[in-house]
Amino acid sequence: MTTIEAAAQSTTQNNRKKTVLSGIQPTGILHIGNYIGALSVWVANQHLYNNLFMIANLHALTIPEAVKANELRENARRVAALYIAAGLDPKEVVIFLQSDVPAHAYLAWILTCCTPMGWLERMTQFKTKASQSETVGTGLFTYPALQAADILIYKADYVPVGDDQNQHVEITRDIAQRFNSLFGEVFPLPGTLNRSSGARVMGLDDPTAKMSKSIAETRKSHAISLLDTPSTIKKAIMSAVTDAGSETRFEHASPGVKNLLTIYEVMSGEERSAIEEKFVGKGYGFLKRELLDLVVRTLEPIQTRYKEIREREGYLDELLAQGAARASAIADKTLEEVRRLTGV
Ligand code: TYM
Repeated sequence: MTTIEAAAQSTTQNNRKKTVLSGIQPTGILHIGNYIGALSVWVANQHLYNNLFMIANLHALTIPEAVKANELRENARRVAALYIAAGLDPKEVVIFLQSDVPAHAYLAWILTCCTPMGWLERMTQFKTKASQSETVGTGLFTYPALQAADILIYKADYVPVGDDQNQHVEITRDIAQRFNSLFGEVFPLPGTLNRSSGARVMGLDDPTAKMSKSIAETRKSHAISLLDTPSTIKKAIMSAVTDAGSETRFEHASPGVKNLLTIYEVMSGEERSAIEEKFVGKGYGFLKRELLDLVVRTLEPIQTRYKEIREREGYLDELLAQGAARASAIADKTLEEVRRLTGV
């Protein structure tokens, strides 16, 4: 695992900008955990790397019972629009739908064949998701091989993600190594890029669980979505779990309070010492009101740009078509190498 601060020291190799790939599943509206752990990091570092950011719509099929075609299409466009609204510059970065670049699924099959079942059985996300479904599809099990294909098809150097995805990047390295030793050196081993603070934003209603899109669908005050109104945000923050005390120092605060402080830290960009000074002895009500103000101010410009993007006729279609063409040009080259080495 590399922190963003450390990776910023190493953005080129042989004078070539390093490559970054990441993605988000379009399974619901993005929340501030997705924004803090992933999207805001992509935006902040977009000028340092060659970047590819995809909308992982094939991954959304791993729980097919939850899929409605129209909803999936709409969610995918919403995620694409939010990428740009949050600050990704489409001239600087490649934005595309995973399903528009068939080489991902093709390479995923080849990598699946190189992945021992034992490695997949150890994946904690698989264990959690499988325990929540009655029928577990094979796609849910082989999900990490598709994710490895997403990353390796672009020979990515870095994968900026929240820390819940670290195990998926680790297995990507193992799969790359196994392919390389079986067929020949094709894939560099990618590194994970995590924030040093904010890599795991917790649920506001339950600070022992990661803020998640699926929980947010059934529990109103669990998360804050990037498109929430100020009054919805207010309800979620003002009812966030804290404790009976008044401790606002990061290292001593209870999990709920630490979560609020962390969101404040990342969104304000202020130093921890300044934040602690600001909140000491003021009670949790003050912390919540200040955080509410900050979250609303952070999301407002994103929501305004989002609206504009959605109203521009044909804009997203063109952007995604261009993104798919640019991504395919790179992906097809890697696939050609893989086909030659494997003999298919
Ligand atoms: P997904 O859609 O669950 O999450 C998208 C990104 O948001 C981060 N994230 C969080 N970060 C901090 N706190 C949270 N509470 C939080 N919840 C989510 C995730 O870590 C992720 O960075 N399998 C991936 C999508 C994917 C992908 C890839 C990612 C498919 N192929 C290749 C990177 C590279 C997923 O389901 O993310």
